[in-house]
Amino acid sequence: AADDRAAVVTVEGGGSFVQGAGDASLLQAALRGGLGLPYECSSGGCGSCRIQVVEGEVESLWPEAPGLSPRDRRKGLQLACQTRACGNATIKVTLDGHCVPKVPPRVMHLTLVSARDLTRDIREFRFAAPGPAEFIAGQYAILRLPDGLRRCYSMSNLPNAEGYWEFQIKRVPGGKASNGLFDMAPGAVIGLDGPYGLAHLVAESARPVVCIAGGSGLAPMVSIARAVGADPARQLDFFYGGRTAADVCGEAHLAGLPGFGDTLRYHPVVSSLDDPLSAGWTGLSGFVHEVVGRHQGDRLREAEIYFAGPPPMAEALQRLLMLDLKVPFGQIHYDRFF
Ligand code: FES
Repeated sequence: AADDRAAVVTVEGGGSFVQGAGDASLLQAALRGGLGLPYECSSGGCGSCRIQVVEGEVESLWPEAPGLSPRDRRKGLQLACQTRACGNATIKVTLDGHCVPKVPPRVMHLTLVSARDLTRDIREFRFAAPGPAEFIAGQYAILRLPDGLRRCYSMSNLPNAEGYWEFQIKRVPGGKASNGLFDMAPGAVIGLDGPYGLAHLVAESARPVVCIAGGSGLAPMVSIARAVGADPARQLDFFYGGRTAADVCGEAHLAGLPGFGDTLRYHPVVSSLDDPLSAGWTGLSGFVHEVVGRHQGDRLREAEIYFAGPPPMAEALQRLLMLDLKVPFGQIHYDRFF
């Protein structure tokens, strides 16, 4: 491995970029270099970043990554987000102008300022960086923990000149990264690489907005709601799906926005009514995609729709929106996340 040496990577027919010591992967280096290498998750799960290495030696950071099918492996494909070049290399991939970062991703250090619990397993973390926090509502960053683990988390606040980066992180039982974060005390320092993600706010659209969050998908939807909700003329329906009544959250983050209760409506949904933690719940119940379909119906075709949450929720929503309701593809915004 040539972690400290810069490697020049050429994209067949599409320019070149430099992979430096700070670049976790070929994908990060390409995006930092302003090339539109297709991607979604940056974490080895979605397969959007498949490349063919034509020349040069590369190392795989996660050889078993689920983003590669057995067929991809037979063809010798690699995931750009899980591969580093060991020296100069040439790769083959079809670049996509939509993937060129609108805000150039940077590597920096963050210091934990404070943390507070939102539910029994979701905690909000506030970090400070030396420069302004530049990103678009709905984007994510790669956090690098002291033991070297990297995980992607979406920001829940808005870009700001003071340099604050906020995340709402769900504690995963046995999950090394989330538990490492939950164990951190104020003053702890971690690395950040970002921003990334294409499912960000489309600021120029005047359509009504529907945000749908489940579980750990809260943060990017809160960020988008904060950006949209600052304009009381925009219609915004915000759905949050929790397993039990104790898992419902998000209202406190929206309540201070202009238009709350009027143009901005919050709809919590609980899926496990039988659970003792849901005792006394009289609000909406069912799977959040079903509730959204019943509640919004044909109005969804006129809306910009943002969603983030566990893969089964995201898949059910894609089926509802694309197949059942035929919502135009350009109005549906999500990054596959794992
Ligand atoms: Fe690389 Fe998702 S597998 S971006």
